[in-house]
Amino acid sequence: MTTTAHSTGDSRPRFHESAHAQVQGRATYIDDMPLIEGTLHAAPLMSPKANAQLLSLDLAPVLAAPGVIGVVTANDIPGESLLATFVHDEQIFAGPQLMHVGQVMGLVVGHSHIQTRQAARQMQLQAHSEAPLLHARDAMHAGSFVLPQVTVQRGDAAAALSAAPHQLQGSLEIGGQEHFYLESQIAYAIPQDNGHWLIHSGTQHPGEVQHWVAHALHIPLSQVRVVCRRMGGGFGGKETQAGHLAVWAALAAHKFGRPVKMRLDRGDDIVITGKRHPFSHDWQVGFDDQGRVQGLDSVQLVHCGHSADLSGPVADRAIFHTDNAYYLNDLRITSHRCKTHTQSHTAFRGFGGPQGVLLIETIMGDIARQLDLDALDVRLANLYGVGERDTTPYGMKVEDNILQPLLQQLANDCDYRTRRQSLREWNETHSVLKKGLALTPVKFGISFTATQFNQAGAVVSVYTDGSVRVNHGGTEMGQGLHTKVCSLVAQVLGLPAAQVHASASDTDQVANASATAASSGTDLNGRAAEIAALQVRRNIATCIAQADGCNADAVVFRQGQVTSPVRQRSFTEAVQYAYGQRVQLWSDGFYATPKIHYDRTTLTGRPFHYFAYGAACSEVAIDTLTGEYRLLRTDILHDVGHSLHTEIDIGQIEGGFAQGLGWLTTEELVWNAQGELLTKGASTYKIPTAADMPLQLKIKLWHEPNREDNVGGSKAVGEPPFMLAISVYEALRDAIAAARPGQAPIQLNTPATPERVLGAILAP
Ligand code: MTE
Ligand code: MOS
Repeated sequence: MTTTAHSTGDSRPRFHESAHAQVQGRATYIDDMPLIEGTLHAAPLMSPKANAQLLSLDLAPVLAAPGVIGVVTANDIPGESLLATFVHDEQIFAGPQLMHVGQVMGLVVGHSHIQTRQAARQMQLQAHSEAPLLHARDAMHAGSFVLPQVTVQRGDAAAALSAAPHQLQGSLEIGGQEHFYLESQIAYAIPQDNGHWLIHSGTQHPGEVQHWVAHALHIPLSQVRVVCRRMGGGFGGKETQAGHLAVWAALAAHKFGRPVKMRLDRGDDIVITGKRHPFSHDWQVGFDDQGRVQGLDSVQLVHCGHSADLSGPVADRAIFHTDNAYYLNDLRITSHRCKTHTQSHTAFRGFGGPQGVLLIETIMGDIARQLDLDALDVRLANLYGVGERDTTPYGMKVEDNILQPLLQQLANDCDYRTRRQSLREWNETHSVLKKGLALTPVKFGISFTATQFNQAGAVVSVYTDGSVRVNHGGTEMGQGLHTKVCSLVAQVLGLPAAQVHASASDTDQVANASATAASSGTDLNGRAAEIAALQVRRNIATCIAQADGCNADAVVFRQGQVTSPVRQRSFTEAVQYAYGQRVQLWSDGFYATPKIHYDRTTLTGRPFHYFAYGAACSEVAIDTLTGEYRLLRTDILHDVGHSLHTEIDIGQIEGGFAQGLGWLTTEELVWNAQGELLTKGASTYKIPTAADMPLQLKIKLWHEPNREDNVGGSKAVGEPPFMLAISVYEALRDAIAAARPGQAPIQLNTPATPERVLGAILAP
């Protein structure tokens, strides 16, 4: 990147930009916004049946309920009755075919949130239902798919497998995961003049909400403005599925000509919205005496739910991460995108990556036990090489490989070898409590695999008092994106971070912005904002250089001062002078990620700008009589490149690890045979708490900046640490193996609840 003037000085804020407001309860979420006079509320009419044909629907009792003004059904849609999703296979309101329990068939609109919810329960309905498909294997058997299958291969997996000295095969069932964002889905649709709309939406993708609403109302995108200041968590659950709420609220507002707010209660949110995709894996592997993989055949059954949503790219990312950190020469992966009668599963932190990584990590563990080798040695032997064994199955060279030194450093830092020895002694002398240890790596590709999404825009405005505002296409969901973007702008202008403010994500400010997803929020929007800020700085520097008779490059922006070889001015003085000279003090910036390309039909190319790496080592103790366990210690070494904000990055690593821990150990989704999701609240669905965290948790950051040209030398951090929790799952299997020596392999489906751990110990 070319720069004219330069800046230095510490522009890093200590705190998340919303931290103070959040702890004081003064950070505004959509539900906190004062209501406009005449605002109505809407509640969903939800299908009580799965895989059913609607026979009759009586809404008279709903309409007669107190506070109700009317209902909204498919007849009230001015545009097409399908949502403007990528695959175009989902109705705005379900019927006459009802796919899943909780599917939204229409809305009740009334004077209060509570009244409309109570009225919705009065719906009378008759439907003929048949046994629903609730598992990917059942859908596979029935030939039910949302998208065609995808096969990726390199070399000859079958030949390599049978030629290998050792073979193993197995299957793995991976459970889904509820997002459990603290703020449930919400939208507030406000009609404006001249047929225009303002939508406040809790969304990771305002541009997509704009598209869906315009499509449903049958109006141009330019007439819909979508705004989001912050979300109370998204985790991928608000990448597409915030759009449903926005479309519903807009349709109700359209019908009644009044503003409509719609917020889902926790239970309804869980029943209506999609989760992380459950996966069913069948695999066969061949390997040599060192445990090096010679051939892999993997069949991946992806449980997509009733519609495609983002299942295609999620299943693709699982394929792209089945190698994780390992060189797999001869392999074949077949991925089936199974259609079932459940919620439509969607993006969730890692976006299919974790389901691919978990597969290969269990295979590594199984190979080690089969050969009676230490699992770390098997993992080290299989790592991508440098200069050889360095091309992924999809044809991308792993150019920035730091796996060997990173794993070695973590193993040293956490005394892996010594502890392995003392664990062996412990397990030999204790019959009830058994301990397990595992060190697992993560390599995660950064960029949207759909190349066109890797673009971003921003606007930086400097006002005449020297205060600065930045607006960019990303959204804030707690991950600290605004804090990082503000500090990047402050850095360019040589200002303290507090002088730069981020305003709400707004489709009127930055057009066609991508979702804040794929961990690339800062990479994309941070760079766009930096480019905009550099332009403003260039304008000011050129103007000052003219006044002082020097070169623009000689003007330095530092610690709130603008200094030329001739004169020093405060930033505000310099700005006021430039304003007087009629210089543009605001600018846009645009960034498109370089180097990436990808062929959607063959799944080959360079889909990722770079890889983020990490590794974790976890130690557990299990009670072999009950299956209960404790996580004793976790050591993490994670690569964020040059950290843009250490506290936020560590927070993302801790949070990602904790969320991964929940996915693999306690968070269990249970549907009954009729397709009703039974785990629809915190009383039955257990997300991790502080008490579930390791008794000892150490986190260190890798010391090197990103080797690719990325903003500030940093690397994306949002999703990769999620997969560090796989070390806990592998440690559990290690402890189970100690409880039943010589009886490999260990079958442990996820979540690895105490029941499943006990089952694995007792398995024949
Ligand atoms: N952190 C918090 N606190 N809340 C969230 O909702 N979402 C995660 C991750 N970290 C999330 C989070 C997901 S799924 C992604 S893709 C990234 O943040 C998105 O933000 P980024 O690209 O700015 O990192
Ligand atoms: Mo994150 S799953 O890419 O929103």
